[in-house]
Amino acid sequence: MATMAAIVECREDAFRKIFKFYKRRIPPPNFSDVFDFSKPMTSDKVVQVKIDPQAVSDGDAARVGLQPVRDWRVFNLKGYPGFIFITNPFLRGSQAYWVRQCLKTYPRKPNVCNLDMHMSPSDTQDIWAKSVCNLSRPDGKREPKTLLERLRWVTLGYHYNWNSKTYSANHYTPFPAELRLLSHQIAAACGFPGFSAEAGILNYYRSDSSLGIHVDESELDHSCPLLSFSFGQSAIFLLGGTQRQDPPTAMYMHSGDLMVMSGQSRLLYHAVPRIVPAPQEVAVVEQSSWGSDQQECVSQEDWAVCSEYIQSSRINVTVRQVLGQSQSFPETPLREEHQAEGEDRSKRRKGVYSPQQT
Ligand code: OGA
Ligand code: MN
Repeated sequence: MATMAAIVECREDAFRKIFKFYKRRIPPPNFSDVFDFSKPMTSDKVVQVKIDPQAVSDGDAARVGLQPVRDWRVFNLKGYPGFIFITNPFLRGSQAYWVRQCLKTYPRKPNVCNLDMHMSPSDTQDIWAKSVCNLSRPDGKREPKTLLERLRWVTLGYHYNWNSKTYSANHYTPFPAELRLLSHQIAAACGFPGFSAEAGILNYYRSDSSLGIHVDESELDHSCPLLSFSFGQSAIFLLGGTQRQDPPTAMYMHSGDLMVMSGQSRLLYHAVPRIVPAPQEVAVVEQSSWGSDQQECVSQEDWAVCSEYIQSSRINVTVRQVLGQSQSFPETPLREEHQAEGEDRSKRRKGVYSPQQT
């Protein structure tokens, strides 16, 4: 007789088992159960939905590199209220701009990155310039890995403290205006016109990286949606339930795809067990003259570095509103905060939040 304990134990392992299944290298897993929103849908769990095309004007959408809202393909998943998946709504060529921002602009000071934990600010001041310089050195003198290749995460706005798992009022730098506007338009199109981008976490995945099972609950107001963008190679994303052990649904996230976790889905367990090569038919990032103005266009030289990078990597951008309307941070003793900062994230429990190498 199967005991209750055995059933509970089995359930407890359901997410972990599926995570391990998709992470496995030898033999490679069967991917036939992974939803692919870029393909005609066969599952009755996937529901294509209409969103209000008037919520964002075509001009406002184009200004941040997005197609008119009426052309977006938007999906809900049965059993996951508030979860919204939008297949690549970017205008042709505009992803290159966002990739360049994520690789060249956002890692710059005053933003914070994993390399700051064991390098001086002057060494991490311009990761891009140092990496490009290293790449173009004559062979023998190259560092084995560029700083760009060692970049794992960048934080924006209210800088997430990985140790205390909190944000705080006194560790804030201005959130990039163009990413704030992009997020605002997407949230507005999804029915959240009041969304305010206050914190960003950028994850940089190599082909063997994964992201452990977790919930994003550090933000103080969970009624605000969380936006997630994917660029470069594809990922297998697992969306679970409110309990750690609930078995998850697997789906591909391809370059340009967006997820909005709102409502009940805002606090669901999720993970990225595997990065997979972008399929040929999914329009991968291409360079074009798109940019909010001439100065903002991606140059040939910059694009050469970006395209090389994303051939083997994935960039994930999550944008969060930390505080609800007229909410503020609770008072925290300064001493506590400073103690928590500056520790190397690699010493932390494996699998929480930042992509890990295997
Ligand atoms: C996160 C996250 C998922 C992804 O950064 O919290 O869940 O698709 N990212 O990389
Ligand atoms: Mn997350």
